[in-house]
Amino acid sequence: MPGTALAAVEVPVADWFDPREAMRDPYPSYERLRETGPVVFAPAVQRYFLTTHAAVSWAEQHPERFSSYSEQNLTMMRALGGRPMLRKDDPAHAAERSAINPTLRPRAIKEVWSPSFEKNVDRWIARLLEIGPAHADLNRDFAAPVASQNLIDLLGFPSDVHVDDMRRWSTDYIAGIGNLLDDADIWRRCDRSQAEVNTILDSLLPVLRRTPDGSITSHLLQVGLPEETVRANVHLTISGGMNEPQHMITNIVWALSTHPDQRAEVLAGEVAWGDVFEETVRWQSPIGMIPRELVDDTELEGFSLPAGANMGLLLASANRDEAVFPHAAHYDVRRRARGHLGFGAGVHMCAGRWAAKTAVGEYALPRLYERIPGLELATDRDTRWDGWVFRGITALPVTW
Ligand code: HEM
Repeated sequence: MPGTALAAVEVPVADWFDPREAMRDPYPSYERLRETGPVVFAPAVQRYFLTTHAAVSWAEQHPERFSSYSEQNLTMMRALGGRPMLRKDDPAHAAERSAINPTLRPRAIKEVWSPSFEKNVDRWIARLLEIGPAHADLNRDFAAPVASQNLIDLLGFPSDVHVDDMRRWSTDYIAGIGNLLDDADIWRRCDRSQAEVNTILDSLLPVLRRTPDGSITSHLLQVGLPEETVRANVHLTISGGMNEPQHMITNIVWALSTHPDQRAEVLAGEVAWGDVFEETVRWQSPIGMIPRELVDDTELEGFSLPAGANMGLLLASANRDEAVFPHAAHYDVRRRARGHLGFGAGVHMCAGRWAAKTAVGEYALPRLYERIPGLELATDRDTRWDGWVFRGITALPVTW
């Protein structure tokens, strides 16, 4: 590990790494990268990748060296129109993060948010049943609206905000965060989404100042953060708080449908839904890579890395590391997947992980299979996956 006695050597170069190929299916590239080494330079994205569980974990435990702010990675701030906690280091980050923690801890999730999660799931199962087995798309008709409505509630947004708008804002921000090629149309979409969300906040923030509630937005206000910081963190929460739980709902249905023996065990109650959730986050991680920048010259696994190095911590590759997860390429709901890095680790570890696990693992999936036990993938229509840094299913036709 870092500080090792080995003489520093040149970092291997993966000149074959092609982000377009990774968009189609990143896992073969991850495997080859891990075979190449724990630290690999990828010229196509001008980044040093950390590929193994040990290397990614070490970086996450040393935020004083691996900064979350980087002049080389400004797309998130451009997309969200401000600098959220995820692009700050401690202590500035901690001041913002500690504002939202109380309302996202397991107890608040259980006492404050679970009734909404339950209600939202039931409402959209009813809609799925109305659409029927010939036309239903689990992403469009269930995962996206459930994840959107949950986030509308968590943020304390007015009840007339439409799930399709929340979904569009989230999709636009995610596209912007990944807009490394500077596509002008993506920036236009981000600007429009920012303007729409800001119009809602213009009315909502004065109300929440007068009458605070349990929402994320209210908690950000209550600790006295400047308004632009509150707004930046609301935009941040919209970007990740809808897209990833949406992907987890479809990923789990897809994973269980393609492993019917395991689905039978889960539906027979032999495996806890919480374990299914964790194993699926490990096996098909919705966030494949997180960016960092090296503050100082650093030796890592015997390699010399210069201050200012543009780093990519490959969470999804670390989650397939055989040294930690035997038969890592196999989906196995009975394995203990805890210790996976699908939510990151360290100071920026996902603030919404309990909300996601409860909403998806305790409500969306169990109730979906309870109401529609014969849920299957529809073979007459195509399933579509998309993305590499943010990866998930964009169409999941189902039948029953
Ligand atoms: C299964 C679903 C989810 C996954 C896989 C996921 C994944 C992640 C990851 C990997 C990070 C760390 C990023 C980094 O260090 O660069 C993160 C951070 C974050 N997530 Fe999530 N997330 C999920 C759901 C949610 C939800 C539902 C919310 C909000 C309600 C949320 C809010 C946040 C926030 C605010 C941060 C920034 C934390 C900080 O900077 O301290 N996430 N998430």
